[in-house]
Amino acid sequence: MKKSLLFLLVAILSQACVKENEVDKFPEDGCYSGSLRASYSLDIRPILDANCIRCHNENNPPKGYNLKLYADVNRAAQNNLLFNVVNHTAGFSKMPSGAGKLVQCDIDKIRKWIENGALND
Ligand code: HEC
Repeated sequence: MKKSLLFLLVAILSQACVKENEVDKFPEDGCYSGSLRASYSLDIRPILDANCIRCHNENNPPKGYNLKLYADVNRAAQNNLLFNVVNHTAGFSKMPSGAGKLVQCDIDKIRKWIENGALND
């Protein structure tokens, strides 16, 4: 009787562990960042390169944001624009301008990266 109770407890606890790990993935669109924290070089850079820098580059960047530069990406993160423009939050410009909204998992990566301090990692 005692043994089977212990077994049950172990079974429940290991299930809880599995569930907890799943939260760290990006479930929307089956997307996963490959790490617990979104990384600037691995996760954020590819999103900006594919969707933003054709306009936001060194040639007269809109509103002064050259999104090839970490300093400018970080400035947009710190002043609350970066997340809100890609999230299409009411009252903000909608980016990427003239194109469809980013997929939810990319928006989630950007949010996670900002929440973790928008590091140049
Ligand atoms: C087709 C060109 C184009 C693309 C692509 C584009 N932008 Fe923009 N962006 C603009 C223009 C033009 C403005 C200035 C006018 C405005 O705010 O709508 C702007 C403004 C901004 C601003 C400043 C908003 C403000 O209120 O000052 C941010 C931040 C920004 N874009 C981020 C991004 C991000 C992030 C992406 C990629 C996900 C992106 N943009 C893609 C053209 C573009």
